[in-house]
Amino acid sequence: MLTLRDAALPDRHWVDFVLQHLDPTLGLTRNRGRIVAIRSETPDTKTFVLRPARPVAFSPGQFVPVRIVLGGVVHERPYSPTSRPGTATLSITVKRHPGGTVSGWLHELAAVGDVVEIGEPAGDFVLPASFPARLLFVAGGSGITAVYAVLRAALWARHEIDASLLYYARGTADFAFASELRALEERHPALRVQLLAQQPDGGGTPAGHISPAQLDALVPDHLQREVFACGPATLLEAVSAHWSAAGRASRLHRESFAPPAGASDDAGHAAVPVQFRRSARTVDGDASTLLAIAEAAGLRPATGCRMGICRTCTCTKIAGRVRDRVTGAIDDAPMSRIRLCVSEPLGPITLDL
Ligand code: FES
Repeated sequence: MLTLRDAALPDRHWVDFVLQHLDPTLGLTRNRGRIVAIRSETPDTKTFVLRPARPVAFSPGQFVPVRIVLGGVVHERPYSPTSRPGTATLSITVKRHPGGTVSGWLHELAAVGDVVEIGEPAGDFVLPASFPARLLFVAGGSGITAVYAVLRAALWARHEIDASLLYYARGTADFAFASELRALEERHPALRVQLLAQQPDGGGTPAGHISPAQLDALVPDHLQREVFACGPATLLEAVSAHWSAAGRASRLHRESFAPPAGASDDAGHAAVPVQFRRSARTVDGDASTLLAIAEAAGLRPATGCRMGICRTCTCTKIAGRVRDRVTGAIDDAPMSRIRLCVSEPLGPITLDL
């Protein structure tokens, strides 16, 4: 029932619409941030310093969704803040991905003064309330953003912490925060930073990929340390396999922002009918995700991260059998809620789309 109070209050989204025309960072329902500085970290990585309209209360290692609108479509990607919590600005460090919509816009078009929307922080890749005295951090590529955040949080909490960082990148020029990490190493005598280039610029010896032998050589007591790892799937799989084999999986904290691999084993997958009931369309689906099939059919479901994190693409599956590419779980329940970006059809599907 509409109360007098409700009737007297304008809709919050309508208020936002009006406020946005006065100042694009203002809003009741959304937090927006203006870009106040941009700096290059590596040839394909930049840090964007945002001044949010409202403080963003995150824990180091969590991610915040960053949203932009292009052509009337909202695009969202998760980024780990690389600034200190509790400050007036929020920094995100973004690697340019080939064909990446949000990273491409940020790198090519974004300028100081532009405004982006900032969602609520999430993620459990954070320091536990109490943590052991010896830590190991493993980062690959842009995984350094989350690892750098957690490492600094540990050093803020305990100046003398015994910490070791193994940071893998393609070339010598591809290490973001290299000078900041060296400065941390000078300030914290028990911190050891090892930058491991896979293809060293100028022809040095490649560091090689992470392996039990390499871990033994670089950090002999690695199995006695609490581990925080973030990077590409191959690195995380190697780390997980090693710590599991040693019976130390509980000491491993891991995070990946990489899209799930196309885990389909459907080579030669027969076309299956995918019905979009509200759109009155039926198309032949293949081994792609339901999001890709919908977009190929000309539909534009809401999307964000496109990697199973944000749940923006969640949709009701009226009937049919799908596989979740992240968990591998098979879902054949009617009227279940699925994430289109990580679900692939295993037979005829009907979606409420
Ligand atoms: S778009 Fe984020 S979970 Fe699908």
